[in-house]
Amino acid sequence: MLAPLPLYRLVYRSKSSVEMHEKALAGLLRQARLHNQSANLTGLLLYAQGRFLQVLEGPEPALSDLYARIKTDPRH
Ligand SMILES: Cc1cc2nc3c(=O)[nH]c(=O)nc-3n(C[C@H](O)[C@H](O)[C@H](O)COP(=O)(O)O)c2cc1C
Repeated sequence: MLAPLPLYRLVYRSKSSVEMHEKALAGLLRQARLHNQSANLTGLLLYAQGRFLQVLEGPEPALSDLYARIKTDPRH
């Protein structure tokens, strides 16, 4: 049996650049869940008073790829 890939955890916080209404947040979550599931990533995304806190867990390459995209997202 193959050894399981080591699990990495990434936690960051950021400030939203646009006001995130319920509909926008629901869209973001839907997109994130779809992608994260297919990349074997799990996590948590909190939003309150214009700030995000996200925890992401999974294999390193998938995590780095996603973080590179999240970092350039104009919504924060
Ligand atoms: C606060 C925040 C958290 C995000 N979290 C995720 C996430 O967990 N998974 C994901 O696929 N996209 C997430 N996104 C969206 C990505 O930044 C990006 O739009 C998405 O991965 C699609 O990238 P692409 O257009 O380069 O394919 C998040 C965006 C923001 C603003």
